[in-house]
Amino acid sequence: MNRRSKLGQIALAVLLVLGLMLTVVACGNSEQSNNEGNEAEKPVVYKVGTEPTFAPFEYKDIETDEITGFDIDLIKAIAEVSGFEVEIQGMGFDALIPALQGGTIDIVASGMTIDEERSKQVDFTAPYVNSGLALAVAVNNEEINSVEDLQGKTVAVQIGTTGAKKANALKDEGIVKKVLTYDTIDVLMAELTKGTADAVINDLPVTQEFINKGHHEIKIVGEPLDSEQYGFAVAKGKTELLEKLNSGLQTVMENGTYAELLEKYNLPENAWPK
Ligand code: ARG
Repeated sequence: MNRRSKLGQIALAVLLVLGLMLTVVACGNSEQSNNEGNEAEKPVVYKVGTEPTFAPFEYKDIETDEITGFDIDLIKAIAEVSGFEVEIQGMGFDALIPALQGGTIDIVASGMTIDEERSKQVDFTAPYVNSGLALAVAVNNEEINSVEDLQGKTVAVQIGTTGAKKANALKDEGIVKKVLTYDTIDVLMAELTKGTADAVINDLPVTQEFINKGHHEIKIVGEPLDSEQYGFAVAKGKTELLEKLNSGLQTVMENGTYAELLEKYNLPENAWPK
């Protein structure tokens, strides 16, 4: 073997060893980056709070006992396009904002109206539904046809809602005599037929859905009392989450999902805040 080929063999050996070392390092690296990849892919789970007696927006499916509805499907669709997961939690409507502030939940999806007072306590997304309050009475009540007819009457409302606020304002004005406050919508509607309450002030699409579901013992009277818009709420300062919700909402409004959900839950086209 001449000197040249010996040198060649040594060079080859060195190259082989170097190559092996590189492979080992590369494998190690790729394994590591895979791990990191998995870590990053594991989606965040946000806790979503809702008061689930508010069909068609949020209610318990009687067959599965799971909370479902327009708001729930919408927040799930937003989660999917924004790359996070949600866990739905039922609670009293008046417990939602305290739960956000205390960190027990991350998002409120509960037909919550965007208003000035709440905006001081929480941050709202862009509006996702147009709504408003309506007056409902027992079907045989011919006396009450508008807010003006509430003089001396008893009005039932859900705790912590804009309906409750409206009824209490009417009481302060000396129109409504008594305001009865209930935790859930079914219980409050029942007061109309029992005769405990003369009227109910509640969100129009919800009272409408209640009637549509077979409760023809009650009816909606007069014009809507106001116009309101629902937003998802997060704790003050949760800017990143708020941005994820807003961009996700925009995406599902553009990709057809939002329109499908309006139809699925029998909501009118003008519910869409375009
Ligand atoms: N829109 C009304 C409000 O913000 C009523 C909402 C009630 N929502 C519910 N899931 N019960 O006060």
